[in-house]
Amino acid sequence: MDSPAASAPTNAGDRWLADPLECGPAAGFGVYLHVPFCHHRCGYCDFATAAVGDRAPDDVAVLYRRYAEALRTDLARQVAAGPGAHAPPGAGMVGSWPRVTSVFIGGGTPTLLPADLLAGLVRSVRDELDVVTDAEVTVECNPETASVELFATLAEAGVTRISMGAQSFAPHVLTTLERGHTPDRPLQAVEEARAGGIGQVSLDLIFGTPGETEEDWRRTLATVLTAGTDHVSAYALTLHANTPFGRRVRQGELAAPDDDVARDRFEVAGELLGAGGFEHYELSNWALGPARRSAHNVLYWRHGDYLGVGVGAHGHLAGRRWWSTRSTERYVEAVEAGASPVAGDEVLDTEQRGVERLLLGLRLHEGLHPIDAPPIEPLALEDAMAAGLVSTSCGRLQCTQDGWFLLDEAVARLA
Ligand SMILES: C[S@@+](CC[C@H](N)C(=O)[O-])C[C@H]1O[C@@H](n2cnc3c(N)ncnc32)[C@H](O)[C@@H]1O
Ligand code: SF4
Repeated sequence: MDSPAASAPTNAGDRWLADPLECGPAAGFGVYLHVPFCHHRCGYCDFATAAVGDRAPDDVAVLYRRYAEALRTDLARQVAAGPGAHAPPGAGMVGSWPRVTSVFIGGGTPTLLPADLLAGLVRSVRDELDVVTDAEVTVECNPETASVELFATLAEAGVTRISMGAQSFAPHVLTTLERGHTPDRPLQAVEEARAGGIGQVSLDLIFGTPGETEEDWRRTLATVLTAGTDHVSAYALTLHANTPFGRRVRQGELAAPDDDVARDRFEVAGELLGAGGFEHYELSNWALGPARRSAHNVLYWRHGDYLGVGVGAHGHLAGRRWWSTRSTERYVEAVEAGASPVAGDEVLDTEQRGVERLLLGLRLHEGLHPIDAPPIEPLALEDAMAAGLVSTSCGRLQCTQDGWFLLDEAVARLA
């Protein structure tokens, strides 16, 4: 580790915004499409979702087609409006869109859509924008919706990566989480993805679920290491007040997730996944080497620009962020009526962008290159280093393990 005085980032100008090395526009350009449908809404989940399991199949089929059409229309309109209409006034963003380096179709459960409809969404991005030939194209998938045929159709349409929610391999944890699949289904689904021609497969895990033991978590990680995936995301269970889990905890029916347990589980994940050859490249993400990282998520953490299309989707361009309504009905009706589904936007000032650059960039193990770090007072850096929250290496500003757990505090000290 360098000494604080020798390593304080000296980036006092505006190069971190105007001409960054790895962040902002240098990180690439992404497109995110959101598909909100889920068979059942898991009790912990706060994403923009619409449960369709209880609805008549014919109605659902019509809704899927209307929604996919609305996504295509919304994307086409955002693209036609051009970067100048999305960037903050005075940002000087005119002309054409950057080339797309990553596409992410997330949910919800995108793989509830018929395969041809989902493949059509991937193609619509290529129809509207210039997508680089080696772009990463990810689709989120629930294990119970998987099949070789589905993955073959997606691979044919250019999907390169599947991100699948396994959450746990302990049956009682899956029951608590209200998951609709057996513990072995994600393992079969990974094989189906490979057989269908998908090159990269990631599994999502959740740790710290009430009732989960350390042994459950160790077995879950050991199982992941046999699954043939090249990427793992592992999240501490987050309690959202407005979810059934939030209400059950308030009513004393469910134990609240424990921070100390989460910290222990996180350390076990680092230990076992590391021993299995996975690099811990971001707070919640591990990959079998740099080429297997999630390029689209790295774009977010490097403070890049992206279009967001669909229910609850966020877009970001040069410090302006906008987001659509979280209601599926309102989204579809607005787009069909030729109106905007955007529910809000904000323009961040330079100081806010600096805080955001730190909050995002320090999630990555690589941290921030000195050119990409906003100006930091040497004393503030020294203070954050003395508190054991950040370190520097070859001039790069990085979070320590403690700093990852106290990221808000680390950034508050730096900013
Ligand atoms: C938006 S979901 C989509 C994935 C897919 N629908 C599934 O559940 O398999 C992405 C991931 O977020 C994680 N997640 C969702 N809610 C969470 C929560 N409250 N706490 C921790 N992780 C959560 C889960 O690991 C999930 O797989
Ligand atoms: S299936 Fe995935 S997106 Fe849907 S409610 Fe469950 S965690 Fe959320």
